[in-house]
Amino acid sequence: MRRLLIAGNWKMNTNVGEGEALAEALRDVDTNSVDVLVAPPFTHIDRVARALKGTEVFLGAQNVSEDTCGAHTGEIAAEMLADLSVDYVIVGHSECRGRGEVDATVAKKAARALDAGLLPIICFGESEEVYGSKERVDFLKKQVEASLAGIKDLDKITLAYEPIWAIGTGKTADAADADAVIGQVRAALDPAIQGKVRILYGGSVKSSNVAGFVAKENIDGVLVGGASLKADEFKAIAREA
Ligand code: G3H
Repeated sequence: MRRLLIAGNWKMNTNVGEGEALAEALRDVDTNSVDVLVAPPFTHIDRVARALKGTEVFLGAQNVSEDTCGAHTGEIAAEMLADLSVDYVIVGHSECRGRGEVDATVAKKAARALDAGLLPIICFGESEEVYGSKERVDFLKKQVEASLAGIKDLDKITLAYEPIWAIGTGKTADAADADAVIGQVRAALDPAIQGKVRILYGGSVKSSNVAGFVAKENIDGVLVGGASLKADEFKAIAREA
């Protein structure tokens, strides 16, 4: 049985004080039956880590450099995140891919994360145009395959299916359709890890729709954006999951 992961991606929101207050308000989130993760902006990680100290809530980052420490202005190395007790790092989010990040870079970032002892959450998903085409499943399988290229320790990977058209739009994917497409992506993974890898759904998840997603066989949790910025709503998502 794969344990559900309820992950909150704060994106580029909150100032440090607001982030710390949000983390404080999440201290009593119910982690008995699900794993819970928050991914604040880099600038907030240390304060959020302190605010969550002693809880079971995992700490995430929203991105990581494809390089190790050195002359890479503006980048953040996986080792630096590990030094801040970060557990997970999101890579290949469509908002990063939309700024030019390609599959090969996503794979390198995931590999650097694993080298530093972090657990990567690798995002994949299609545009509305691809969603409506017969190439959809092939597109997603290829995107995942290329984003995993060269990665050892595949069993430490989490994947997140995020249809781009469902992100921040209030339009969720149909749970049965998301389950079916995730099932096809899962079936294309290395048989040795197929049953172990968690695959999340992301895109306009809230407390009123989360149960429908996580009830599905292939959906092992959710990656939540907007609704993770409200402590009560995020706690309700973890409770309803
Ligand atoms: O990383 C989270 C996703 O992009 C989903 O964002 O819940 O605001 O649609 P959203």
